[in-house]
Amino acid sequence: DFQYPHTFILLGASGDLAKKKIYPTIWYLYRDNLLPEKTKFIGYARTKQSVTDIREKCKKYIKLLPGDEEKFEKFWQSNDYFSGTYDKRVDFEMLNQLITKFEKGPVANRIFYLAVPPTVFEDVTVNIRNACVSIKGFTRVIIEKPFGRDDISSSKLSNHLAGLFKEEQMYRIDHYLGKEMVQNLMTIRFANQIFCPSWNRENIASVLISFKEPFGTEGRGGYFDDFGIIRDVMQNHLLQILSLVAMEKPVSLNPNDIRDEKVKVLRHIRPIKQEDILIGQYVGNPDGQGDEKLGYLDDPTVPKDSVTPTYALATLFINNARWQGVPFILRCGKALNERKAEVRVQYKDAPGDIFNGHAKRNELVIRVQPGEALYLKLMSKSPGMTFDLVETELDLTYSMRYREADVPDAYERLILDVFMGTQMHFVRSDELTEAWRIFTPILKELEEQHVKPVPYRYGSRGPLEADMKLGENDFKYSGSYKWKKPVC
Ligand code: BG6
Repeated sequence: DFQYPHTFILLGASGDLAKKKIYPTIWYLYRDNLLPEKTKFIGYARTKQSVTDIREKCKKYIKLLPGDEEKFEKFWQSNDYFSGTYDKRVDFEMLNQLITKFEKGPVANRIFYLAVPPTVFEDVTVNIRNACVSIKGFTRVIIEKPFGRDDISSSKLSNHLAGLFKEEQMYRIDHYLGKEMVQNLMTIRFANQIFCPSWNRENIASVLISFKEPFGTEGRGGYFDDFGIIRDVMQNHLLQILSLVAMEKPVSLNPNDIRDEKVKVLRHIRPIKQEDILIGQYVGNPDGQGDEKLGYLDDPTVPKDSVTPTYALATLFINNARWQGVPFILRCGKALNERKAEVRVQYKDAPGDIFNGHAKRNELVIRVQPGEALYLKLMSKSPGMTFDLVETELDLTYSMRYREADVPDAYERLILDVFMGTQMHFVRSDELTEAWRIFTPILKELEEQHVKPVPYRYGSRGPLEADMKLGENDFKYSGSYKWKKPVC
């Protein structure tokens, strides 16, 4: 298909996501010759502006390497912009005419990227369906969260979409599925006999999946306040990771075989109860610098009495033969001490101890970011005359082991997948339904009972109670071990 004309239409082209992420991403794909040669890019939004204006707005966010200037010019020449409303079909008919102009030959494909606010989402999709679908090739639609805010609104949206497009045409982005180490989870699990037989309740004590960010909502509080960290990160990014860590081996690498297994494991999870969750909200740190002094409630776009969580720790249980009783702890927070996303698979204590309790647990750590790494914490004899134990690791740090490798950004990978028509790393509607089934009751309870989040300081490790929760859920943290970046 790559020989035919393709049009990539970015709706919401004047917005934040477009300028910060999507334009830079399509430029990198174009620069690296990864897209079909005859690809045309069209931005669409209500704002009256030109391609030159867009180019100017994106400038800060685009890396331009010396030598690429000419190609960069060409890239912008392949761009067009059209301003129109989101709710009038006639505007989309005009957009259709513009797209058609570039579609010479018997086949032409179209990809629509919806970087638009949820309020116009329904109108836009109806108008695409009515006025813009390709008549001589494929039409694919990329959509971004929020996919509703609870089970009912999400299923309404899914039904709406199902009335317009086939599941094979829909690409629901969860950009965590585009990250290198998240994609590596299946290989680690299913291509290594060393892990296959131990990946279960007999050997694994608990699994901790964390997301930490060192900054707060920074003016995006208005949007965030309506959603909170559970919807923003836990119900999507962390749950997606969980399903890849916990699912059974799929029949094949076929995207639907994989997604079948992901759905199946989610179906074994019961909705989260209040005793299984801890929520927090950051407060300013009086000793901090700049933004660190400001708490969530100091954000002018956030209501003064907001109880929206900016931190959450929840324990999920998978009631199947492999995992019954093993806590899967999801933990995420903003305004914490560091940026980190990782999975920790903590093994049980080695039985029949002969080391007077000095042996610590094995842990397989999959670091998603920053600095992709996979390491296995294990006990070894301290080198030398002694017979003491020492905690150490088998370490695969990507920057050391794969010096030449260029790990692509999640969005680059995912947008390319859409061109290629592979849905492996996209969320199917039944996965979404399961995710909302697990999270809707607790979200409702927290909101209806106006449950107050525990305060934690900007720049801290989060609420102190979180460490206790880890302990209660069979995750042992001894503090005696710290991963050190290898030196050569
Ligand atoms: C987004 C959330 O989905 O993921 C943001 O809406 C969050 O709140 C972001 O900051 C984190 O993405 P990354 O790739 O920087 O870890």
